[in-house]
Amino acid sequence: MTSASFPRPSSRFDGVGFSEIVKVRNRVMELLAAGQKVWRFEGGEPYMPTPKPVKAGMGEALVRNQTRYAPSSGIPELRQAILEKVRRKNGIPAEPESPIVVNGGMHGLFAAFATLIDPGDEVLMFSPYWTPVLDLISYHRAEAVLVPTEEARRDGISAALAARATPRTKILYWNSPNNPTGDVFSRAEVEEVAAFARERNLAVVSDEAYEDLIYEGEPSVAPASLPGMYERTITVFTLSKSYSMTGWRLGYVVAPEHYQSAIKTVVLYTTNGVSTPTQWAGLEALQRGGEALEEWKGGYRSRRDRLVAGLEAAGFEVESPRAALYLFPKVPSWLGNDSRAAARTLLDGAKVATVPGIVFGPEGEGHLRFSFSVPEEMIAGGVEARQSYTSATARR
Ligand SMILES: Cc1ncc(COP(=O)(O)O)c(C=O)c1O
Repeated sequence: MTSASFPRPSSRFDGVGFSEIVKVRNRVMELLAAGQKVWRFEGGEPYMPTPKPVKAGMGEALVRNQTRYAPSSGIPELRQAILEKVRRKNGIPAEPESPIVVNGGMHGLFAAFATLIDPGDEVLMFSPYWTPVLDLISYHRAEAVLVPTEEARRDGISAALAARATPRTKILYWNSPNNPTGDVFSRAEVEEVAAFARERNLAVVSDEAYEDLIYEGEPSVAPASLPGMYERTITVFTLSKSYSMTGWRLGYVVAPEHYQSAIKTVVLYTTNGVSTPTQWAGLEALQRGGEALEEWKGGYRSRRDRLVAGLEAAGFEVESPRAALYLFPKVPSWLGNDSRAAARTLLDGAKVATVPGIVFGPEGEGHLRFSFSVPEEMIAGGVEARQSYTSATARR
């Protein structure tokens, strides 16, 4: 029998991974299907449902029969609300055509990289980083050049960037507040990065998915709000985390005129725009979602503090983050220092699901990511399960 011959998939996918977080989730699903109780900290989404007025916004749009094609870059009402928000809250000097509605943060990042990258370009990015970004960069045939955040903060951001920039460097990807660490870069740090981008004529892709989830201290500073930066920055926002809308798939990018046509073209040929009723719900979220967000922040803060206390009691070294949804503690010695092995031991032994830090880059090795955006019972149960597991292991 001759083996079947068929055209192979595009080489564009060589070297593009498929989220390791999904692998953890699949293992959790197996355990659940086998009837096991799993304490789930591997996720990355708000723990409460989408606010009622937002859901009602979609219902009303359906009643009004707003179910037809919308302009692929977004309904004018939503784009106007975004324009006002980014000018007021983020200080970005956006123009009426700057906001482009996309299917969530991931789609916005895809559009930003598709707009800017030529094959062979290099993209500077701080590490640890949100995993899919590396794959988006590979998919567009550019090379990610990692800048360890800890080193940059210790030895100077400009020096760390300068040591890794080459004539092929075109873009700097930036994520503050950060997933997985919850770090927020200070104004002085953002100014330093901006000065570097201007000096080297780099474009900046600024991923501000967690802009609203900051529990203490100053708000984050949008690079596009700084002098000479709007022209070179594509800022990516999402409603997923701010308004508990992860499943709705709604976000927006804000870009200067010279990038708008490419971004609009990507949106047109990838999704032909976001579903029309979803965009009406998004308008409600921007206009009326702020109240729920303020209420939830207290809940996030208390969950964070309880999980920090629980992990510290278990011998983890944890820094309490001031933003986002995650703790990123060092793996304690009783779990070894290989984060994949540690996550496997915790999952199979204590039925506690986490994400191994190595998934977020070499600088994440030796850490585990725990989401604190989980029901309160999950925190209590997870801490208890871990304790029984360690006492049982100690007795062996
Ligand atoms: C740093 C970061 N950027 C972007 C996103 C994308 O969010 P979404 O596609 O759900 O809007 C996420 C989601 O986890 C994230 O953590």
